Amino acid sequence: MSDILTLGIESSCDETSAAVVLNGRKVLSNVISTSLDLHKMYGGVVPEVASRKHVEYIVPVIDEALRTAGVKKEELDYIGVTYGPGLLGALLVGLSAAKAMAFSLGKPLVGVHHIEGHISANFLEYEELEPPFIALVASGGHSHIVYCSDYGEFKIIGRTRDDAAGEAFDKIARELGIGYPGGPVVDKAAKLGDPGAVAFPRVHFKDSLDFSFSGVKTAVLNHLNKCKMKGEEIPVNDICASFQKAVVDILSENTFKAAKQFNCDKVVLAGGVAANSALREEFGRVAEKRNMKFYRPSPVLCTDNGAMIACAAHYAAQKGRFSGLDLNAYANLSIEEIGAKG
Ligand code: KG4
Ligand code: ZN
Repeated sequence: MSDILTLGIESSCDETSAAVVLNGRKVLSNVISTSLDLHKMYGGVVPEVASRKHVEYIVPVIDEALRTAGVKKEELDYIGVTYGPGLLGALLVGLSAAKAMAFSLGKPLVGVHHIEGHISANFLEYEELEPPFIALVASGGHSHIVYCSDYGEFKIIGRTRDDAAGEAFDKIARELGIGYPGGPVVDKAAKLGDPGAVAFPRVHFKDSLDFSFSGVKTAVLNHLNKCKMKGEEIPVNDICASFQKAVVDILSENTFKAAKQFNCDKVVLAGGVAANSALREEFGRVAEKRNMKFYRPSPVLCTDNGAMIACAAHYAAQKGRFSGLDLNAYANLSIEEIGAKG
């Protein structure tokens, strides 16, 4: 097989990223420019600001990705791009750039689902990883358990019924006034706290792999109010550690339950929350105890990046899944309908 070079473009939220990946597995470049700092004072991503920054960054980021990889744009085989889900205005910037390149270079365009990209980050990290496996996808906008039966074949077998896991981290951090995004700051504070300090609830649904994080979130808020009413100092580190432990327990129990149900001995983590140190530790511990294999991308591949999109595009192309130049962006898009809308 001759070498295949895929460009991956990602602009669904606040990261503008482009990457070149060789044969689906080897990252030749992965350039990420983020507008995160501009959103910090609002405590969340401001879509209009994100879109404007994507417009500014997209061409230099793609140029830099090609330059670092030592690849000329004419040498590319496929142009992969995230076309949903995400912020519509943000998605359209990456999508328009990808379409323009595909058209002008005469290269095939491959629309990639953002979550498909997150899961694929594991293929970049682990050369030996092959489907089938169970993936826990936890980010700011999603919390899904996905059964990946083959490359590009996904079935959602569990999902959140309210907040996404990352969203819960972000809300708790906001209430505690410790910064944005919440995940990394809660993770850091939790290292100094006692996870057994407060018993926050863990919600499980009978005969279902679904999640719920609103109960634990409300319990944290009630606990904070109680402390404030009593005039007590807020034990920030203990609250972060106890909250994080509750979320990790919920995520871990359901994911390993899913692996058992699907008779699968491989579990992978994906999405921004996959960078959480306690989550990685717990998954490692349970997997070892059950004699299962556990995969997680390095932190830079957990958050949004172009390399994971290039990887997913490579495997979609191998299966003949290409997109037309009329490909649209979708703010909401299920991972189970990638072929239908892409
Ligand atoms: O995948 P991502 O970069 O963007 C989305 O597609 O949403 O995920 C961002 C989310 C944020 O909610 C952030 O708080 C969370 O991932 N996150 C973490 C950690 N690092 C990022 N959550 C828990 N622990 C972390 N270390
Ligand atoms: Zn993401």
